Amino acid sequence: MAETTPPHDPGTLLASHRPSGRLAGRVAFVTGIGSIGPGWGNGKAIAALYAREGAKVFGIDLNQKAADEACEAIRAISAADGGDCAVMAADASQEDQVAAAIAACRERFGEIDVLVNNVGIVKLDRITEIDADEWDRVFAINVKSAYLTAKHILPAMEARGRGAVVNIASIAAIRYTGVPYVTYYATKSAMLGLTRAIALEYAPKGIRANAVLPGLMDTPMVTAGLTSAYARQGDVDGLKQARAAQCPMGQMGDAYDVATACLYLASDEAKYVTGAELVVDGGITQKYA
Ligand SMILES: NC(=O)c1ccc[n+]([C@@H]2O[C@H](COP(=O)([O-])OP(=O)(O)OC[C@H]3O[C@@H](n4cnc5c(N)ncnc54)[C@H](O)[C@@H]3O)[C@@H](O)[C@H]2O)c1
Repeated sequence: MAETTPPHDPGTLLASHRPSGRLAGRVAFVTGIGSIGPGWGNGKAIAALYAREGAKVFGIDLNQKAADEACEAIRAISAADGGDCAVMAADASQEDQVAAAIAACRERFGEIDVLVNNVGIVKLDRITEIDADEWDRVFAINVKSAYLTAKHILPAMEARGRGAVVNIASIAAIRYTGVPYVTYYATKSAMLGLTRAIALEYAPKGIRANAVLPGLMDTPMVTAGLTSAYARQGDVDGLKQARAAQCPMGQMGDAYDVATACLYLASDEAKYVTGAELVVDGGITQKYA
């Protein structure tokens, strides 16, 4: 089966990106820095773009191998840009592991300027079919993880009077996309509420918090999800084409599109932007408005 050619290859886009030191000297903490399969997931691309713009990026991932691979790719692509990368295996839904990773980040790079809550899982589930433990598990990974990092990072940002939080939500936070994944709708909506609360409580303290809402993106997560959900049909390539056809531009977005939005929100250019919900979806939510 031929593989779908992505509309844009994030690796090529990241390599040809022209950095201008927009995050020089900054330290960023990114959850879910690995990629569920070969290629560029959102966390990996965000971290790589931040490093290309001069940031020192500390990433965590449940999967040590995925984290190491991401770190190696990020270091290679940003070698000449003054950035750096370090990673640690940690479960973003466990407070002790999150606290240990944040301490390791401070030890390695210093105080954190930018927090990116990227970790998120998606699984097909219907409200009457999902059991309560699984409901709790998805909420722990998709939402509690962001509460935990914020809880352990915001006090130091407040003490310094500066910081930026970028939360990765989804258009599933604001639309029913037709796919039966009730925990995804519920957790991604919760990320918007969390973002709003941080933005308004911390606006007087020099800390900004914003959400990015990606649409139908072509990332390893999508390939893996389609492969497992529709394995029996055996036509992941065709399903990806059908997904692309729904998009007004006729193609899915990619992890570089998400990364550039996250770069803007982390940078000083967004100094008056907080509480925003930045939709990166090629117009699809307007189609179904
Ligand atoms: N791909 C899309 O189309 C799309 C669209 C909208 C939103 N998003 C969001 O973007 C984010 C990243 O998506 P992606 O496509 O890059 O996913 P991905 O699955 O490729 O990468 C996520 C990484 O998170 C890690 N991870 C999973 N559970 C973890 C845990 N408990 N602790 C630490 N790490 C853990 C995985 O090992 C993986 O390396 C998610 O929040 C997702 O919901 C993706």
